[in-house]
Amino acid sequence: MSYTVRKFDAVIVGAGGAGLRAAIQLSEAGFKTAVLTKVFPTRSHTVAAQGGVAASLGNSEEDHWHWHMYDTVKGSDWLGDQDAIEFMCRKANEVVVELEHYGMPFDRLDNGKIYQRPFGGHMSNFGEKPVRRSCAAADRTGHAMLHAMYQRNVKVNTQFFVEWQALDLVRDADGDVQGVTAMDMETGEVVVFHAKATIFATGGAGRIYYSSTNAFINTGDGLGMAARAGIPLEDMEFWQFHPTGVAGAGVLITEGVRGEGGILRNSSGERFMERYAPNAKDLASRDVVSRAMVTEINEGRGCGPNKDFVLLDITHLDPATIMKRLPGIREIGLQFAGVDCIKEPLPVVPTCHYQMGGIPTNYRGEVVIGTDSTPVKGFYAAGECACASVHGANRLGTNSLLDLLVFGKSAGETAVEDLRKNPGAHKPLDTASIDRTLARLNRLNTQKGGSSVHETRLAMQRTMQKHAGVFRFDTLLKEGVTEILKVADDVARTEIKDKSNVFNTARIEALELDNLIEVAKATMISAEARKESRGAHVRDDALDTEETPNGRDDKNWLKHTLWHRDRNRLEYKPVQMKPMSVDTIELKKRAY
Ligand code: FUM
Repeated sequence: MSYTVRKFDAVIVGAGGAGLRAAIQLSEAGFKTAVLTKVFPTRSHTVAAQGGVAASLGNSEEDHWHWHMYDTVKGSDWLGDQDAIEFMCRKANEVVVELEHYGMPFDRLDNGKIYQRPFGGHMSNFGEKPVRRSCAAADRTGHAMLHAMYQRNVKVNTQFFVEWQALDLVRDADGDVQGVTAMDMETGEVVVFHAKATIFATGGAGRIYYSSTNAFINTGDGLGMAARAGIPLEDMEFWQFHPTGVAGAGVLITEGVRGEGGILRNSSGERFMERYAPNAKDLASRDVVSRAMVTEINEGRGCGPNKDFVLLDITHLDPATIMKRLPGIREIGLQFAGVDCIKEPLPVVPTCHYQMGGIPTNYRGEVVIGTDSTPVKGFYAAGECACASVHGANRLGTNSLLDLLVFGKSAGETAVEDLRKNPGAHKPLDTASIDRTLARLNRLNTQKGGSSVHETRLAMQRTMQKHAGVFRFDTLLKEGVTEILKVADDVARTEIKDKSNVFNTARIEALELDNLIEVAKATMISAEARKESRGAHVRDDALDTEETPNGRDDKNWLKHTLWHRDRNRLEYKPVQMKPMSVDTIELKKRAY
């Protein structure tokens, strides 16, 4: 199999929010920048982010970045790095205003300022009461954001390669990154994008689960490529289940619904969150709300003939508010549940939504390895595929759009700095990584008597759903490790019948599965090993005691997991408890 080589200053993989934001930085600085994307940029999964982007603008009521920082540290169950969290919360206003200047059509208050709504876990004055912090464009914030940033990229001449599948990271013998190999889906042609700076912004991998709010494109491509190239994955045991996926369909119903006054009810119509989170109620953080919902269902207070969902009620809201602030939700309710939320409550269940872990980075967007966080030369990552780590064990809603703006910009800025320091020619291309890509494609083209991609993917999704869900059980996790390793053996011998080159989606799905399985293994193995409850990782055998509040064991487990693909080895690195300029937010029991 042959390939061609194209040279760029920078290659960015992924054209969602993080990729687009990073590209603006590089192209504005005059660097020749390629963005590879599986789908047209404005169809990236950022399009599905509905409720808003967090920033303590204080447009409706008093707010402060330090309160936002406190909420984020608490939301992360103290696993987030406090330097990166301070950086993100302090930068929030700047990146939101920049976005406004790119033309983002935010909703407005009567005085013309950006409209903000409350969201789960975002509180005033270090945890007092819910605060309006989420800057929203109706319930289509991510959609509007992608359009604003894509237009900006067109203005600054970013080069887009649409419908390209990135295949592998190119790393030389020194471990420096030199770009990626990729396939043009239209022709099947393999091209090496040889670059001095490579930025991964490939989004999440929610498709490792059976029920997910994630698009079908969310196959963890960046994580799979990084893992195969010897980069560990950080904190992969922590997965967020969004409380309100449409029952049966999984499609997201924004938390903004509860921000606008929506209430969760069980089969007797009770507002059950009052029992689980007396202060924040329906606006407690997502892990807390999801567990409360599953507990209601497990204890027989679910709704419907099978008692397997709860209800999200907004029938008490003014229909005009629903049509103005939540038009997309009404549409989703009608299309996916056959329910008009103006008249009837929506059936909802917790659904896999977001990975808190990812490719380890620092707040500058540099990919870092080892327990001392050494940067990998030429390699950066941002957005959901990266672990900065600002979300720790549980992310707050609307901090994801903020993460991709802040760290997309930061990765772009760092890459610009590094490119300016390194104006010479590209280092000669190391061909060993390219050979590995060609061998992988060749294996797929010649495999006989192998496993079916569809069946193997389904086996992986069912295994993850059963063994690493909202609640985790020691025995299920142990069995899950054995099961997922068996599935991985099948992934290594997938067979495709169609060997043609033009738009061969069977081949693309097989290549995506190679990435998904790395994420699934990292998740199961890291989760089985973490013998405590923290944030979204809640085990049956981690007890709530004075030394271990809510089952969280800070003495033994206040540390980040690093999973290595090689022999599934785990190592751990310390959490950065020291912020940049303020005092440490000290450990305490998490309650809402
Ligand atoms: O509920 C939502 O609108 C999702 C937002 C997020 O995941 O940050």
